[in-house]
Amino acid sequence: MSNLTPADVDAVCDLVDNLCGICWDSSKAYLIESRLTNIFKRSGCANYVDFAQRVKANMLPALKSEVIDAVTTHETLWFRDNSPFEALKHKIFPELIDAKANSAFPKRFRIWSAACSTGQEPYSIAMTLADLVPDVHRWDVQIVGTDISPASVETASRGLYSEMEMGRGMDPQRLNKYFTKQGAQWKVRDEIRAMCSFSTRNLHDPYAGLGPFDVIFCRNVVIYFTAEDRKNIFNRMAQILQPNGWILVGSSESLGDMGPRWAPQFHCRANCYRPTMAGAPMAAIAR
Ligand SMILES: C[S@@+](CC[C@H](N)C(=O)[O-])C[C@H]1O[C@@H](n2cnc3c(N)ncnc32)[C@H](O)[C@@H]1O
Repeated sequence: MSNLTPADVDAVCDLVDNLCGICWDSSKAYLIESRLTNIFKRSGCANYVDFAQRVKANMLPALKSEVIDAVTTHETLWFRDNSPFEALKHKIFPELIDAKANSAFPKRFRIWSAACSTGQEPYSIAMTLADLVPDVHRWDVQIVGTDISPASVETASRGLYSEMEMGRGMDPQRLNKYFTKQGAQWKVRDEIRAMCSFSTRNLHDPYAGLGPFDVIFCRNVVIYFTAEDRKNIFNRMAQILQPNGWILVGSSESLGDMGPRWAPQFHCRANCYRPTMAGAPMAAIAR
């Protein structure tokens, strides 16, 4: 039986929206209890209304990151859903490699894993490219992994995973090729690690300084946002994607309701799209 008052629930839902843009409503009271009780108890606050106000006003800075880590869902695995990585290998990377062949930077690739969680997604992208291009360490590749959760970004940066984490989607061949054993854990090899960088970033904040990207992975995160925020995020992503770039969304996600701005592409059953100029703001067309 929950001890939370409706005012407590409202205050926490408002806090979660304020910090992460994630929609919680009264049906999520159980999440407040399961995810925030320990942090709340340590805060010394009298009730959740007080707690929410103080975290929002940054009066409990040490707890703020903990709240963000606790209210976000970090589920991820290696080569999640497989199809996006098949599309990368068989269509997207070969096509980009050809398209760049006569450009000023034929070996430059910029890829954004937006909401990268603990790093399995960006490292899987790096391994897919390394499978395809044996001398990839001589290429200019930047795979940018960002996430709002400081703890997840720290794990991703460390590149060190437990046996159990490796058991979720990593095949023996790539395990031997791209990891070294470190005690009971597995460390991503330097040549893969060198392609990836990680930082904390809220997807609702401006994307200044990011991009342009050839490929954006934005999977299994906007499902937590409002339709309006979702639209806003994809519109802004279109502005930092190369005109011949690609965006990949989660297996249960679609940009079908976003108008003509995104053209669906059909490769390897992956949910991928390319930007079009239809519906683009005039500034983007002039770019
Ligand atoms: C379910 S995981 C998805 C990870 C990966 N993209 C995948 O598909 O396996 C969702 C991630 O989104 C992050 N997240 C939630 N809200 C966010 C926001 N406003 N800005 C950036 N990242 C956010 C969470 O911290 C979490 O790591």
